[in-house]
Amino acid sequence: MTVHRLSLEILNAMEGAVGQNGIAVEPAGMAKYLGDWAGDYRGDALAVLRPGSVGEVQALMRLCSELRLGVIPQGGNTGLVSGAIDSKGGLVVVSLERLNSIRQIDAENFTLRADAGCVLQTIRDACEAQECLFPLALGAQGSCQIGGNAASNAGGVNVLRYGMARDLILGLEVVLADGELWNGFSGLRKNNSGYDLKQLFIGSEGTLGIITGVEVKLFPKPARAETAYFGLTSFEAAVALFNRARRDCSDLISAFEIIGSECIELARLIDPGMTAPVSAPVQVLIELSSGPSIDLNGLLAGFLADAIENGLVTDAVLATSSAQARSFWAIREGLVEGQAKRGYHVRTDLSVKISDIPALIEQARRFVANEHPGWIPLAYGHAGDGNIHFNVLPPLDLGASGVRARGAEVTAGLYDIAVNLGGSISAEHGIGRSRRKEFWAGLSPTHRRMVTALKMALDPKGLMNPGCLLPSTETFP
Ligand code: FAD
Ligand code: LAC
Ligand code: ZN
Repeated sequence: MTVHRLSLEILNAMEGAVGQNGIAVEPAGMAKYLGDWAGDYRGDALAVLRPGSVGEVQALMRLCSELRLGVIPQGGNTGLVSGAIDSKGGLVVVSLERLNSIRQIDAENFTLRADAGCVLQTIRDACEAQECLFPLALGAQGSCQIGGNAASNAGGVNVLRYGMARDLILGLEVVLADGELWNGFSGLRKNNSGYDLKQLFIGSEGTLGIITGVEVKLFPKPARAETAYFGLTSFEAAVALFNRARRDCSDLISAFEIIGSECIELARLIDPGMTAPVSAPVQVLIELSSGPSIDLNGLLAGFLADAIENGLVTDAVLATSSAQARSFWAIREGLVEGQAKRGYHVRTDLSVKISDIPALIEQARRFVANEHPGWIPLAYGHAGDGNIHFNVLPPLDLGASGVRARGAEVTAGLYDIAVNLGGSISAEHGIGRSRRKEFWAGLSPTHRRMVTALKMALDPKGLMNPGCLLPSTETFP
């Protein structure tokens, strides 16, 4: 990057593009945009820009392109891999938060178009009011934005039924690095004409353009949902339970979350009164959902009776009210918040084949016990997708720098275990800045060449989120 400090002339030009309320350069005004949800990363920037229209995003990108000024697109800033935060301070943050209108809900065709800065919860609520479901659901849904979900290809708890963001998006509107606007909306479910360009931007983590609008698929709002909390003796039993559940529950499972009992203590950091409905070492939260004409309760009760008879499940509670179902989900959400409250820790989102989940957890636990005694492993996640968050808490008496250095070693060991099992180091959170080196090192030369060619074609000046996902353009092989 050639620009390290913004001259008055440049600031005036930026203010001209986004208006006086759309620019912050003082530390106090920028602070909110420079820290992540977990408190793991602290960033810096030349300015935070908050365009209020697609035209303003275009004007900004034209200006940044002319100045060769690097840009970090930012949504709700809930990402967990430092994709929307950079510590070097030589870039401008472009926050989409003022682009926050739902443009259209078409309940007849089950589609929605929204500005990229719409908060996911707002979208979910608006759909529900029209008897529709937008099924992307994650703990950060009260803050993350649909544009951020698209840019990070978010997953969450309903992936096994509805897919990741990539599967839910019908079209995108994107401002390219030179300020040109690409309108990739069609409203069509099937469109097989040539390259599917939207897929390039989904999961690109702000490195190819700024997403300004998103068009998604909707589904009928389920008339029925049943939730149960199961206790099991092992992760092997949990995987066997999942396989049976898919068949026996007619593929009506919308969530199948696995929770190691060691995680419950973390949920108690948020609510000391919280108790799991079962006390088994491995716990499963399962949700079925359907239209009105299916006896879901009977289906789940029958499945549970069989699972107990076959020795797969030792204990279980079927929620008898929506309040009880919510209390089960509060455990799942609380254990994530509890980890953030405890402070810095190793956080992963590994994935392996579903059948390899027990091996992943067993090897990871053994690695931590042998190589990093005193560190506390936690295993939970979206087991129905083969996605385990194997996180590790540092001993409380280790100083901050020791925690970060040892944490990097723990992370590297866990990545090796997943990769040796044929798995991925990022099932859903993405690469960002925190995993860039490992990601890039794991690519074949052919893969690197194709990625580089795409980046050079769409962002030849290397302005889009430099340092995230890819090495800087100067160091491309
Ligand atoms: P940000 O954090 O602002 O940005 C994420 C990346 O996208 C950055 O690289 C940024 O540059 C880019 N970006 C953002 N907006 C745009 C845009 N409009 N155009 C171009 N690029 C853009 N993730 C999951 O997948 N599954 C989960 O279950 C899950 N649970 C979570 C639970 C909690 C409590 C928290 C804090 C996070 C969780 N996450 C989860 C991670 C995170 O919430 C998601 O990745 C989310 O999709 C990020 O959206 P955001 O708007 O906050 O994006
Ligand atoms: C979850 C996030 C952290 O599954 O991905 O809770
Ligand atoms: Zn997750």
